[in-house]
Amino acid sequence: MATVIDYEVLRRQSHGRLAVEDMQLLERACAVCSARTILEIGAADGGSSVILAAQAAKRDGRLYSIEGNPKAGMMANLAAYGLQDRCTLLPAWSPWLGPLEQEIPPVIDLLFIDGRHDIRWCLMDYHYWQPRVRPGGVIVFHDTGGMCREDRAQPDFGSPGYVSLVRRAIALILATDPLVQIDANDGRDGGAIAYRKGIAL
Ligand SMILES: C[S@@+](CC[C@H](N)C(=O)[O-])C[C@H]1O[C@@H](n2cnc3c(N)ncnc32)[C@H](O)[C@@H]1O
Repeated sequence: MATVIDYEVLRRQSHGRLAVEDMQLLERACAVCSARTILEIGAADGGSSVILAAQAAKRDGRLYSIEGNPKAGMMANLAAYGLQDRCTLLPAWSPWLGPLEQEIPPVIDLLFIDGRHDIRWCLMDYHYWQPRVRPGGVIVFHDTGGMCREDRAQPDFGSPGYVSLVRRAIALILATDPLVQIDANDGRDGGAIAYRKGIAL
């Protein structure tokens, strides 16, 4: 049975780091690639984790979530929606997972990048994990929106001004890699862009 999620409620439960429009984009991105196996980098209080675990559950799949500073709120939010058994939390800083890396399947349908947002970290997360995304799979970057409410109290997320840094990282990636933009939200409090991975990568 599909999990019913009120996105406004989930947004409040997860400290508003993901706009409702970004949650809707994640849902569409999962639908486009029939996502069963999903990898997320950066969970915080689990706003995106709940959406992605629910999408994986819908297809009898699983979310793998890498978070260097796991918060009790993340697992509590997953449990509130009955999704705790659909998520494997990997408490480590991407991409240095050590033996935990073996828990992530070699092929994934969707990669969500929302860890540290400075250019080299976005590039590193992308280049390290994108080889696992199957051709036709989807890669979503978060905090790409012009009106993003950056959280300067949380230096883990990246330098102030990090939205422009994420966008510059994406521009560097697009200069060489055949990603096709399939969706974007340039809204308040975040913003996200989704790309489908080309066959030639
Ligand atoms: C913007 S928050 C994620 C928000 C979350 N996706 C949501 O929907 O609410 C960024 C998170 O990434 C984590 N983080 C930063 N760098 C990371 C890395 N290299 N590996 C794993 N987690 C990282 C931080 O600890 C922080 O919790």
